[in-house]
Amino acid sequence: MTSSTSRIHIFDTTLRDGEQSPGVALNHNQKIEIAHALARLGVDVIEAGFPITSDGDFECVKRISREVRGPTICGLARTARGDIERAAQALESAAKSRIHVFTSASKVQIEHMLRKTPEQVVESSVKAVQFARQFTDDVEFSGQDVMRADFDFVIRLYDAAIEAGATVINIPDTVGYGTPEEYGRLIARVRDEIVRGRPVAISTHCHDDLGMATANSLAAVENGATQIECTINGIGERAGNTSLEEVVMAIHTRRDHYRAETGLRTRELYRVSRLVSRLTGMPVQPNKAIVGDNAFAHESGIHQDGVLKHKETYEIMNAELVGREAAVMVMGKHSGRAAFRKALSDLGYVTNGTSDRGLNEDAVNALFARFKELADRKGQIYADDLRALVEAGAEVQAT
Ligand code: KIV
Ligand code: ZN
Repeated sequence: MTSSTSRIHIFDTTLRDGEQSPGVALNHNQKIEIAHALARLGVDVIEAGFPITSDGDFECVKRISREVRGPTICGLARTARGDIERAAQALESAAKSRIHVFTSASKVQIEHMLRKTPEQVVESSVKAVQFARQFTDDVEFSGQDVMRADFDFVIRLYDAAIEAGATVINIPDTVGYGTPEEYGRLIARVRDEIVRGRPVAISTHCHDDLGMATANSLAAVENGATQIECTINGIGERAGNTSLEEVVMAIHTRRDHYRAETGLRTRELYRVSRLVSRLTGMPVQPNKAIVGDNAFAHESGIHQDGVLKHKETYEIMNAELVGREAAVMVMGKHSGRAAFRKALSDLGYVTNGTSDRGLNEDAVNALFARFKELADRKGQIYADDLRALVEAGAEVQAT
């Protein structure tokens, strides 16, 4: 890392916000398995749960704190003393612990959900952060729905939280409302008008209701955020959270642009994605960036031909870098002759042969025509289909 490159901390909340995905309930052992996988991936912080919500969540945060080494282990708490005490107990044996205290920042949430005055929200936040600091010197503070909140109130609330001892301030776009431009500008204002050079990290927490969570998190990085809160496969409340694999690979692939790095072992990404998908029962859409089945598959003849000539014609990152097998050519009606020939040779057929065992040019041409007919009828063509084509062709020649 050069001096002009900033280090972005990855705060994984798969086990807390991610588990809030409708229909998902991970059991104790499954959470522990995911926590170990996240530690292998090298995330900086694991938000392991919300200990006050149930004995199960408490026990899980406790066990993760005891067993998982490497990342900071974090527990969520409202501003109530009971929440903070419970989080602190659960985190007792963590080598590095963080208490994440949250309240609400927008008028609609303060009035209708908290049913408090803005003054009461500031006061309870200050007391909560001071109380949390009695248990750990790493306290994160969040006001839900900052994106839709009045910025004068945001300044008061967050300034008071910093004075009370918050070391990380998190700026949630709880309902996924902001555009990248707006959210980026909000983070710049937080940096210039709230943090003002004090040693406090700015964190981003975006939801994906309008499909902008990844773009918004990256806009935040461009404007001073040094922590991204995210989940594996982007799971979470409603449309989910920022997808961890997307922000990590965007920062890595476009380090020329972001001038930033995460400390993650990217080769673990695919494995963790599969694990979380299997344990949560939430399938990953095929065209999902980085971890979807099609993310490194080429179908059209023009693309396949390009990639066979030079990978960089249609590939911006190596599949191996995220722990997947090399990019695959999907054989179908859009595939061209070059990919067809390559697929035959991958299956062990010699395509420039003149002897009995090799496929000469005429044979390849005849097979290619039959392959196109089959692809029109069948869609995707698999290795067994290709073998059958070649064997049927050999029988025709022999008769
Ligand atoms: O979306 C949100 O505002 C949250 C907070 C608890 C940080 O998840
Ligand atoms: Zn959230």
